[in-house]
Amino acid sequence: MPSHKSNLDAHAISEFLASRRSTRDFIKDKPVPQEIIDQLLVDAMTAPSWSNTRPFKIAVASGDVRDRISKEFLNRWDALSVGRHGNLLAKIKLITSRYGLPTSNRKMAKPYVAELKPRAHRIGAELYKVLGVERGNREARDAEWAKNYEFFGAPTELFIYIHKSLGIWSASDAGLMMENLMLSAHAHGLGTCAQGAVAIWDDVVRKEFEVSSHYRLLTGLAIGYPTDAPVNSFGANRLDPAEITAKEK
Ligand SMILES: Cc1cc2nc3c(=O)[nH]c(=O)nc-3n(C[C@H](O)[C@H](O)[C@H](O)COP(=O)(O)O)c2cc1C
Repeated sequence: MPSHKSNLDAHAISEFLASRRSTRDFIKDKPVPQEIIDQLLVDAMTAPSWSNTRPFKIAVASGDVRDRISKEFLNRWDALSVGRHGNLLAKIKLITSRYGLPTSNRKMAKPYVAELKPRAHRIGAELYKVLGVERGNREARDAEWAKNYEFFGAPTELFIYIHKSLGIWSASDAGLMMENLMLSAHAHGLGTCAQGAVAIWDDVVRKEFEVSSHYRLLTGLAIGYPTDAPVNSFGANRLDPAEITAKEK
């Protein structure tokens, strides 16, 4: 039985936490060994959970399954982009065929509310600067976004489903679980990137995995070994805790 106490140095832990960052360029032909994936899943299960219910399912996509899903995502992204930015005929084709339109999480494209918008804009602007994408260059931005559908080259993509019955607590539990998994991956020298972008075509994942209709897709999560690309050194800004603590009345 593992001890409930830790001898790890608190300062070292803070440093470790601060050193995790999202990876957006992976070595595609370097698979993650199955025993490491197994260990990440074991570590993920040590997170707290609502009544210990663990109201989530994880679909682990590697190899051919991963490639098939990615290929279909890229085709749909192409169809969606052509429909959105093409002429009237292209728009009509998108609407009538529906191929490329989101089949799940349709509300994801909603604009950010005023309180959160500056934060989202800041990360977008800073990230695109590192990627060399100029403001207003929609095509270049779309090309970067499309990399989500190749999982940034990651050899393994996880699809995280949450049980509908527990509402927001399912998402909270999944988030806690994912962070444990991401930190364990980080400790193994792996990179990760949570990917809400892939949650809009749930049917593609369900074609490959048995997931009951009681579950809905929350997000994807790319895992693999990071390349030396500059985007992987990008450090997202960190909010001052004062910005997220509620003031006493
Ligand atoms: C639920 C969730 C979904 C995310 N979706 C995406 C995504 O689709 N594409 C992407 O590049 N990053 C995505 N991210 C990564 C965030 O942009 C990133 O965590 C944030 O900017 C902070 O940077 P850091 O992870 O490097 O600390 C997502 C993060 C979370 C938690």
